[in-house]
Order: sequence, then C-alpha cells, then structure tokens
Amino acid sequence: MAVQGVISYTLEVPDISQGIEFYSNAGLIANQKGNIATLTCEGQTRPSIVLLGGYPAKRLHHIRLRASELASIADKVPELGGLIVNAPEGFEAEGLWLSDPHGMLLHLEECSEDAALTKGSPFCINAPGDIVRMRQSAVLPGDDYAPVRPLRLGHVLVFSPDVPKSVRFVTEALGMGLADRAQDVIAFCCARENSDHHVLAFAQSPGTGFHHGSFQVRDPDEVGRGGRALVEKAGKGDWGFGRHTIGSNFFHYIQDPWGSWFEYYSDMDFIDDYSLWTPTNYSMKDSLANWGPAVPTDFVHNYEVDASPER
Ligand SMILES: [Fe+2]
Repeated sequence: MAVQGVISYTLEVPDISQGIEFYSNAGLIANQKGNIATLTCEGQTRPSIVLLGGYPAKRLHHIRLRASELASIADKVPELGGLIVNAPEGFEAEGLWLSDPHGMLLHLEECSEDAALTKGSPFCINAPGDIVRMRQSAVLPGDDYAPVRPLRLGHVLVFSPDVPKSVRFVTEALGMGLADRAQDVIAFCCARENSDHHVLAFAQSPGTGFHHGSFQVRDPDEVGRGGRALVEKAGKGDWGFGRHTIGSNFFHYIQDPWGSWFEYYSDMDFIDDYSLWTPTNYSMKDSLANWGPAVPTDFVHNYEVDASPER
C-alpha cells in the first residue's frame, strides 16, 4: 500500500480566467470547458492543475495521487483518523476518495506513471580543478531562449493544523515516508521508491489550505529565467532565486492571483529506496532556505483560513 507520486491539485477559485492567464504565463497549456479549466505540462496527457470557477475564494478542493494497493489503504484510513468518502458530484468515482484527519480531500488512483522525461544536455559547471567546458559559452543572449515550460508537477505543499498528525496519516495509512522535517512546523514526505525528496509536504497553520504546487524545469538557469519572466507578468510577490536546505532544490516562487504560490524547481534530492534514507529534524533557521532573498511577509500566510473563519 503506497502513494507513488502526485498527479494534480484541484482548486476552487472565483474566476478561472485569472488562473488560465497566470498558469499559461507559467508555461502550462490551458484547456477550458465552461467554468472548469485544466492546465497541463507540455508532453503530458494528464493535467497537473484543475480550476473550478465560480467560488467565493480560492480553496483547495482535493489532491490527486498515484497509488497502489488501494484496498489496503482503505482499511488503514479510519484507524488513522481519516474517512473513506464518495466521489464529489461531477468527479470520477474510480479509485479511492478519502479525507485526512483534518478534512483535506484526497483522490488516490491506480494508474500508469507519466512517460520518463527525456535527458537534456548536462548543466556543466567549470569548478576549481575541474574544467568541463572550454571554448564554449554557457549562456546565450536572452532572446535566444524559448519561454520556460515546466516538465511535470513534482510536489504540493499544504497547510495543516497539526503537522505530526498529518505526517502520521500519510506515512501509516498511505504508505509514504517522512523525508525530513523542521520541528513540528514543516514536514516533507516522499514515496518509498524512486521519489523526489518530497511529493507532499505540510506547513503548520490554523487550518488546512493549499500553499504551493512545484514544477520541475531542466536546470537552475530555467528556474531563474522562468521565475523572473513570470514575476514580471504576474505582478505580485515572489521569493527566489534561492536554494532550499531541505530537499536541496533551487527554487523560485511566484505568487498566484489568490495569494498562494507557484514554484519552479531544479535539482532536488532523490530517494530511490526509503529504507536507506535517514530523516533529519532541522532547526527552524534551516526550514526555508539555505540562501535566497528575504522571505515575503505573507509567504506562509494561509489565505484560506481568512476566507473561511469557521474552518
Ligand atoms: Fe516546494
């Protein structure tokens, strides 16, 4: 029984046209049917983001995860404080729908993995004593680059009112692994085989909510180039270019139309066999970044709690 990766996240939003514009500028391919939009990475068949329009405020609707042995997971869910639920109206009943101990809706599905990414040219760095690039420029004039297009959705970070409880649920009921954490404030969970350092992560907040979806690009230059271009188009906040301590990835976060975030990332730690990985409990000063610009004041603000004070 195990979650193997993240397929997509679905958000309720007031106006899908804002989301279509933002995510199209981020390099995703938009498709609209009525008041529903899907956003897909170039070369993929399944959308990474689904937007449901016409709601009063942005709110996480559910996260779709690729998983195996759903019957075994279904047995564990109630023991760990979750609930097996019916598919919401209008959504496919196939797979397993459940809510976690805090009411966050998840849709687990046994399905094929996305096609393997094609290998690009290596990111060559001339290091002291190790010159690997000679008589050749690494960087082209800016106009020679096509707009950055994300390759795939790598992870989703959500808010949780009780991070250890959320971690216990996804590790013991859903068969994930705790990769690393910073105290009981933020935790990063991976699949147990051939996984990015994290595919689902939790940050402490008074309520549940969507914080960010993170999309892999080819290399650190694409993180920087794509991030800068999107900040200029989106016109809201950003955080980056920087490098995380936990997971090691280069990052640039750009604020979406609703105050949550879109991340480009490159070069994340990889865990091929969780039984050979030892989680670290980091101090809070290492929880956000190893280096980078000052963190925006609302970077970990949960606007979904503001919009739903009763939750
Ligand atoms: Fe992230």
